Amino acid sequence: MRTALTGLAFALAAVTLAAGPAAGTPPPDDDTLRGAARGTGIRIGTAVDTDALAADVPYREAVAREFDTVTPENVMKWQLVEPQQGVFDWAAADRLVDFARANGQAVRGHTLVWHSQNPSWLTEDAFTPAELRELLRQHILAEVGHFKGRIWAWDVANEVFNDDGTLRDTLWLRALGPGYIADAFRWAHQADPKAALFLNDYNNEGVNAKSDAYYALIKQLRSAGVPVDGYGMQGHLGVQYGFPDTVVENVRRFDALGVQTAFTEVDVRMVLPPDVAKVRAQAEGFSTLLRACLLAKHCVSYTVWGFTDRYSWVPGFFDGQGSATPTDENLQPKPAYYALRDTLLIARR
Ligand code: G3I
Repeated sequence: MRTALTGLAFALAAVTLAAGPAAGTPPPDDDTLRGAARGTGIRIGTAVDTDALAADVPYREAVAREFDTVTPENVMKWQLVEPQQGVFDWAAADRLVDFARANGQAVRGHTLVWHSQNPSWLTEDAFTPAELRELLRQHILAEVGHFKGRIWAWDVANEVFNDDGTLRDTLWLRALGPGYIADAFRWAHQADPKAALFLNDYNNEGVNAKSDAYYALIKQLRSAGVPVDGYGMQGHLGVQYGFPDTVVENVRRFDALGVQTAFTEVDVRMVLPPDVAKVRAQAEGFSTLLRACLLAKHCVSYTVWGFTDRYSWVPGFFDGQGSATPTDENLQPKPAYYALRDTLLIARR
């Protein structure tokens, strides 16, 4: 249970780093992250590359075996579901939702309103503010409606703040003003009243200007009756930057606001090549966020942004960096994998 972790949190770091595979012979189920998470009160998830899911059998088996929630890494984004105006393509996302259902997994939907990965017809045409508002409304109603009853939680609004806590200058803010965020939540709730609706961002794991802005926004939205259920922290860390040391404090203040929290996209990159120190630090980065989740009352899930370096987004976006996930390109567990599993096992005892 979660309380078993209280007080042990910081001692755990040393245990998880040194441990490797847990000592003794746990029941087979506990050999997986999914099994180890049982009884902890949190779900353990991964982003899924749906091309890999279709083509790579060991990858597919690992998604089913290791995780109890899945997030589509790309295939629910606007650019992919409506490549031409009015022409919808739900096929890849439907396949993932079906896969999740067959494997008893919940789905985190990602993402409804964002400044990135929008279709070019939307960003290149000169729509009026009124037209853009209607397009966003129709998009959210269509997408959330399509998956109604099959999505556990939606990342409704993604990355709406800058690191300094000011609203990000986007197509949506420029045309619609800050009210687009509340509107997006209202429309999502209208389309699927049972889905949990989240804000989601990066660099908001610790207490800082950005998480302060989310705290104020969520307080304001909830007092206005806007259906915001959760605060998502992506958790894209890098060993070279160190890790935020106020994560527990941060998740607990959102607990106190009465919203759920979740770590939604965790990975811990490094400047290549890996060495012993970086690999150890990486394990510590993964478990720092997991411990914070386990120490919060309403932290509902911990999701890694891919579990194998074979398909990680990191090398394509950060020159010279990589090795950001808990297993290597051959799906072999790194110390980070064992750190996650052992932290879960300790938390439930
Ligand atoms: O599908 C096309 C393919 O047809 C084309 O040939 C190829 C050429 O580059 O591009 C493919 O699209 C790529 C897409 O991933 C699917 O692989 C895009 O170029 C590439 O930009 C895109 O990157 C994704 C990125 O979001 C876009 O911003 C990453 O896979 C995905 O991991 C990443 O995820 C984001 C979260 O949604 C939000 N938080 C940050 C996180 C990491 O950036």
